[in-house]
Amino acid sequence: MSKAGHILAIDQGTTSSRAILFDGRGRPLAEARREFPQHYPGDGWVEHDPSDILRDVRAVARGAVENAGIDVASIAAIGITNQRETAVVWDRATGEPIHRAIVWQDRRTAPLCHDLVADGHAELVRSKTGLLIDAYFSATKIAWIIDHVPGARARAERGELCFGTIDSFLIYHLTGRRVHATDATNASRTMLFDIHAQDWDDELLRLFRVPRAMLPRVLDSSDDFGETDPELLGRPIPIAGVAGDQQAAAFGQACLTPGMAKSTYGTGCFALINTGETPVVSKNRLLTTVAYRLNGKAAYAQEGSIFVAGAAIKWLRDGIGIITHASQTDDMATRVPDSHGVYFVPAFVGLGAPHWDSEARAAIFGMTLDVGPAHIARAALEAVAYQTRDLMEAMAGDWGGTINALRVDGGMAANDWLCQFLADLLNMPVERPKVIETTALGAACLAALRVGVFNGLESVSDAWGSERRFDPRMEQGKRDRLYDGWRDAVERVRSDR
Ligand code: G3P
Repeated sequence: MSKAGHILAIDQGTTSSRAILFDGRGRPLAEARREFPQHYPGDGWVEHDPSDILRDVRAVARGAVENAGIDVASIAAIGITNQRETAVVWDRATGEPIHRAIVWQDRRTAPLCHDLVADGHAELVRSKTGLLIDAYFSATKIAWIIDHVPGARARAERGELCFGTIDSFLIYHLTGRRVHATDATNASRTMLFDIHAQDWDDELLRLFRVPRAMLPRVLDSSDDFGETDPELLGRPIPIAGVAGDQQAAAFGQACLTPGMAKSTYGTGCFALINTGETPVVSKNRLLTTVAYRLNGKAAYAQEGSIFVAGAAIKWLRDGIGIITHASQTDDMATRVPDSHGVYFVPAFVGLGAPHWDSEARAAIFGMTLDVGPAHIARAALEAVAYQTRDLMEAMAGDWGGTINALRVDGGMAANDWLCQFLADLLNMPVERPKVIETTALGAACLAALRVGVFNGLESVSDAWGSERRFDPRMEQGKRDRLYDGWRDAVERVRSDR
């Protein structure tokens, strides 16, 4: 029997902090949201002030409960999901951060990562962590902080400092500084965690020069992360589910069996495919990561990220001003019969998986005098689908099985035209869920499982419902022609051509 109760999900993202209150069947009742400042103290540097994050998380948690108008006593648990990899180092005694958080997008440690690759460490890191050596992950960010704050390295070695990704920093503070922990999905993004042994790895800690004494305890994604200090909501509430945001979205999309895949369209796009109990090594430069860990047992995923999805639409609006609102693109795309042979490769910050070409730059190809804004807008949307196909082909190649459908979420998934084009291009059904807030839902489901509001993974599948399914209807010849054109365009922006 499952227990009644509400679940509060906290979703701490890169640009905003949100809280959503769910009922005991995973239906959202109310939410609250706050955007917070980004800091760019140098070229390619991105920082967050952890105290902004903490203040906003507390405010939105209270706001969501207030907006729902429910009694706090009915909240059975809290789930936390977060922007991943972002590194915070704080004083164990006071909880005060010793530096601003270094955000996942920050490139300041890229030269160090290049050196580590040149020195031949890529295989060691890949085989243990499933990751490529890159400034994206936490390890080199942690070392940067403790090397640049006077006295920090010695204090970290003495155990006086704590490292954590955002989940860990929030857990520490929300529990009144009693719990220093993270979950296996967040740990798997640090480049310090052996995803096979499910433990921090001494060889990696030496390589990246990170003292073990500062690391959090790694728990399951559905686990006992302590109780919140009553100061948060008036009474203690267990934090019972934690996962990085992309993994939480996959869980909320009920991608619980091998071959189930999701794709989240925000500024960029993150696609994950569940590969079950075996971590699949990629031949196509995808990442291997922990999808979730329940009862000490990890389920793995392969992940591919596209750097620019919604960001290309933002560029159409803010960069060249051919639209005034993102939602116009849906209408513009349907106003023209096709993109008139125009391909837009939005490699503004290089190309992500599976190309990994950081020097590539964006280009628009195939322009003739009768090309107008609608063709360019359509080409920008099509690029999102083409890039998704690049990822799905890489995933299918690595995994070897069939991917039956793609579940989509995030802002751009609201665009019907894009979902249909995606189904056409992938030649597979695209499913859009009723609860589009799958990230928060995933965190809520993890917490619900732990406290008995859900009594098994079937409850997670039951909480997922399809709002609309888009079936492929393009003929194969056209599909191939369009995709060949894209491949050709990508070749032309590559830095190594
Ligand atoms: O890996 C970075 C990712 O977790 C960030 O997600 O949604 O906060 O941009 P988001």
